[in-house]
This record gives sequence, structure tokens and C-alpha cells, in this order.
Amino acid sequence: MRAFERSLADFPAPSSEALAVCARLVDQIAADIAAAGGRLRFDHYMQRALYAPGLGYYAAGSRKFGAGGDFTTAPELSPLFSRCLARAGAPVLAALGGGDVLEFGAGTGTMAAGVLAELARLDCLPGRYRILDASAELRERQRATLAAKVPALLDRVEWLDALPPAGSLRGVVLGNELLDAMPVRRFRIGADGPQELYVRGDAATGFELVAGPADAGCRAAVAAIEAAVGPLAEGYESEWNPALPAWFASLGETLAAGAAILIDYGHPRRAYYHPSRARGTFLCHYRHRAHDDALVWPGLQDLTAHVDFTAVADAALAAGFEVAGYCAQAWFLFGCGLEALLAEVDPEDLPRHVEAVRQVKLLTLPGEMGERFQAIGLTKGIGLRLPAFALRDERGRL
Ligand SMILES: C[S@@+](CC[C@H](N)C(=O)[O-])C[C@H]1O[C@@H](n2cnc3c(N)ncnc32)[C@H](O)[C@@H]1O
Repeated sequence: MRAFERSLADFPAPSSEALAVCARLVDQIAADIAAAGGRLRFDHYMQRALYAPGLGYYAAGSRKFGAGGDFTTAPELSPLFSRCLARAGAPVLAALGGGDVLEFGAGTGTMAAGVLAELARLDCLPGRYRILDASAELRERQRATLAAKVPALLDRVEWLDALPPAGSLRGVVLGNELLDAMPVRRFRIGADGPQELYVRGDAATGFELVAGPADAGCRAAVAAIEAAVGPLAEGYESEWNPALPAWFASLGETLAAGAAILIDYGHPRRAYYHPSRARGTFLCHYRHRAHDDALVWPGLQDLTAHVDFTAVADAALAAGFEVAGYCAQAWFLFGCGLEALLAEVDPEDLPRHVEAVRQVKLLTLPGEMGERFQAIGLTKGIGLRLPAFALRDERGRL
């Protein structure tokens, strides 16, 4: 059976329209594999599966977010999350005497609406709320969310095609579950050292993952990991995000003064490349089911990997940022005043109170999102301690 048609036991089958989009993407990827000489580096496959214009997972019109989609993110789970992020950014805007917000990967626009509404409540609105998303297809959806939730603030929102010019941004950069959606390169430790994983095949045979030669970039990445965690055993598989240094370098050039706050699932390097994670952290999400077969239904499922926060800190430092804070999401949200926001809900209003408590639990309990998700605060050109990170300082783990 062809790999991309393999149905995973008990998975709901995609619609015939979705399968038609998938088939076009398979043809396109197969052509790219042929053009690359018979195999495509995994990050190039992932880039196409997620972002190929009109066909990739984030670039085609599928549902993706929320109960009817493939996964649910914190801003979709609770408005308290966006309110907290606004409270993390407000002191930065206040210290700068104004400025803009730039959100990367804004998804449905729910977080943008929540952050703007809370900043308005705090009387700390940014000049502009700018959105830059790898998928232009999501713009209409974001605009509709913002028009419905914060119509009076819509004229402050601006969609960007590229980063603003060097040195032109002062303010707050936000990204939730952004870094986990960047394509990763994958490696396996062979008998003679690291090998890189590639995708090969075509529309007739299906795609398969194969180990091939490691180039100098792959060998250097694995050497840097082994320098931090010790030698990796033969058979060990994992991945790294090759885009982080360039991404932070560009952001560092753009941001003259302010802070970036990024939240994602991930770990410091020593935990990321721990022997217990010998198959890596790469995962696919399809209708709220997680599995690790990246080659099934290209374009119809989300592909992600955990974030190596040590690599994030290294790339940010090299780009001129300071690491101002790092901690688990629960500590970050409490540092933003989550408890006080919960206390605003009248306990006599039982249904509302029960719902708010349920949301706080989802966001903060260790078995839910509280510890799997981590927050990092990066500052540049501003001498400010970020109050959101005041409760717990875990920078020493990076
Ligand atoms: C998992 S979704 C998260 C969406 C939203 N932040 C949320 O929390 O619901 C990842 C988003 O990041 C975007 N993205 C990925 N890489 C990006 C990049 N380099 N620049 C801007 N957006 C990016 C994707 O298009 C997608 O909208």
C-alpha cells in the first residue's frame, strides 16, 4: 500500500476533497524528490507538507484549530491565556513609552483579539498590532476573528508579508506554538556516526524515510548536541531546527528595542536529547490523535517537533538579545497575574466560575499544559526585568 494512503487504525478518513488536495501535493513533492536526485532532506519535505502554497497543511483551507480540527492551542482553550500575555507585554510598552506588537504565527487570530482587548483594558494599546504568518491563507480567518471580537481595534491591525525593515521595530514580539511549526532536520546515529534522514519515493510507490549521508551541517549539529549531553548511542534518532540562528538574526536586526515572548512545548537541551527520548520528539497531529508517521496524508496533518530552548537561547544571544527569563508555562502565567484574573470571576456565578477554574487547571497543571509548555523572555535594547518571569527563574537549566 502506498505510504500516504496507509490509513492509521481508527483514524477518521479525510474527505474526498481533502484527499484530492493531498494527491496534488504528493505529485508536487514527488517532482521535488526527483529534481533533488531521488531524495529530499526531511526539513524540505516538512516545509512543503506544511507550507506549499495552496496545498500545504497551513496553506490550504482545512479546519486545523479547535475541537473540529486537529489540535487545540492555549489561546483557543482559554481567553485567560491571551490576557496574561498582554500583561506580560504591557510593562515593555510602558517602559518604551508606546510601541507596536508583532505576533508571529497568529493562527485563528484569537490570541491577537484577546491581547488587544486586554491592552485596551490596561490603557496600554500598541500603536499597531502587526501579524506575520508563514501562511497567508490564515489572514482572512484572523481578520474575521478580530472583526467579530474587537471591531473597534481592527484599524490597528496590520498584516505583514515580511519582517519590517532593520531597526524599525520598538515593542513586543509574541509567538505561541510558533517554533514547533518550523521544519526540522532529522538524524540517526549509525555505526559510523550521524546519518541524516531523507524522504524518497513517488506517487506510485509511496514515500519512505531513509537514512543517508550527513553533510557538514548535520555533523556539526550532532557534535554540538553531543558536546552538551555526551555521546548518543547507535540507533538514537532525533531532530533539530536549522532555521533558529537565521530567524533570530533577522528578528534581532528588526527589533531596535523591546522584548520577545515565546511559548511552546519543549525542554532545555539536556532533557531534549536525553537517552529516554531515543526516537526524538517529532509528532504528527490529525483530528486530536498524535502519531509519528510524517508520510501519511501530506498536507492533511500537522507536523511538529518539540523546541530545544537551549538552542533558542543560543540563537537569541548570538543575535544580540538578552535572555530575561525562562520557566514553565504555569509559573509564567501566575507571574502575569493569572490568580488575580481568576479572582475577578464572581464565585456566586457558579457556571462561569467552574469554567474559569477548569481553564486555569488546563493551562497550569503539570499533567496538562503547565509544565510541558515553557516560556522564554528575550529583551533587546531595554534595561527591564520582565515581571512575568519574576516568580521562577529557570535560566540555569538552559
Ligand atoms: C501551531 S500554529 C499556532 C497558531 C497560534 N499561535 C495559536 O497558538 O493558536 C503555528 C503557526 O505558526 C505559523 N508559522 C510557522 N512558521 C512561521 C514563521 N517562520 N513565521 C511566521 N509564522 C510562522 C503557521 O503558519 C501557523 O499559523
